Amino acid sequence: MSYLARFWDSTIGKKFVMAITGIVGVLFVLGHMSGNLLMFKGAEAMHEYALLLRTSMPLLWAARGGLIVAVLLHALAAYQLTQRSNAARPQQYAKTAPQVTTFAAKTIRWGGVLLLAFIVFHILHMTLGQVAAPGFVHLDPYNNVRQGLANPLVAGFYVLAIGALGLHLYHGTWAVFRTLGIARPTPTPLKRRLSVVLAAAVVLGFAAIPIGALAGAFPDAPSPVMAEGH
Ligand code: HEM
Repeated sequence: MSYLARFWDSTIGKKFVMAITGIVGVLFVLGHMSGNLLMFKGAEAMHEYALLLRTSMPLLWAARGGLIVAVLLHALAAYQLTQRSNAARPQQYAKTAPQVTTFAAKTIRWGGVLLLAFIVFHILHMTLGQVAAPGFVHLDPYNNVRQGLANPLVAGFYVLAIGALGLHLYHGTWAVFRTLGIARPTPTPLKRRLSVVLAAAVVLGFAAIPIGALAGAFPDAPSPVMAEGH
C-alpha cells in the first residue's frame, strides 16, 4: 500500500483530511459571505463582483474543482469515520453520559447532510437558475437573490441551512484545533471563544440576506446585464 493509501486508511489520516478540507470550506464561506454583503450596496456592486469572479474562467473552474473535491473528501471521511465508530461499538450503550458534549456536537452529522442538500439546491437556485428562481438572469446576482429569496419558504430554508452551518462551524472549528493539536486538553472544554465568534459572524452575515429580502431591504433595480445589452 502506498504511503498516501495507508495515510487515508488510518483514522487520524481521515481526521486530518477532514481538518484541511474543513479549513478550505471555512475560507470559502468567509469569502462568499463578504461578497454576498454587497447586496446592501446594490445591483451594480453585485454585478461587478460576479464579473470579477469570472476574470479568468480557467481559474474559476480550478477553484470550483478544488472546492468540490474538498467537500466530497470531507463528507466521505465523515461517513467512513462514522462507520468505523459504529463498528467499534455495534451494541449501543444502555445509558450514555458523555463527559462533555454540546447540541452542535450531537447534530454535526445530520447538520452536514442538510448542508450538502442545501448546497445542491443552492447551486440549482442561484448559479444555474433552475429551481425557485423567477426571472433568473445570468450575471445579475442582485435581482436573482432579491427575487429568489422573496418566497418565505425558500428564505426559510436558507435560514435553516445557515443555522446548521453556524452549528457545524462552532463544533468543526473547535474539532480542527484538537485534530491538529493546536488546542490542548483543557479543564473547561466548553469555553471556545474563537468558535463562538466565527459561528456568530457567519450566521449574522449570511442570515442578513434572506431576512433583508423578506423585509424588503433590497429595492427593485434595473438589471445591469440588460443595461449592458448582453
Ligand atoms: C444568504 C445566503 C447566501 C446567498 C445570498 C448566496 C448567494 C449566492 C449567489 C448569488 C451565487 C451565484 C454566484 C454567481 O454565479 O456569480 C452563489 C453561489 C454559490 N454559493 Fe451561495 N449564497 C448564500 C449562502 C451560501 C452558503 C451558506 C453556502 C455554502 C455553505 C454557499 C455556497 C455556494 C456555492 C458552492 C456556490 C457556487 C459557486 C459557483 O458557481 O462558482 N452559499 N451563492
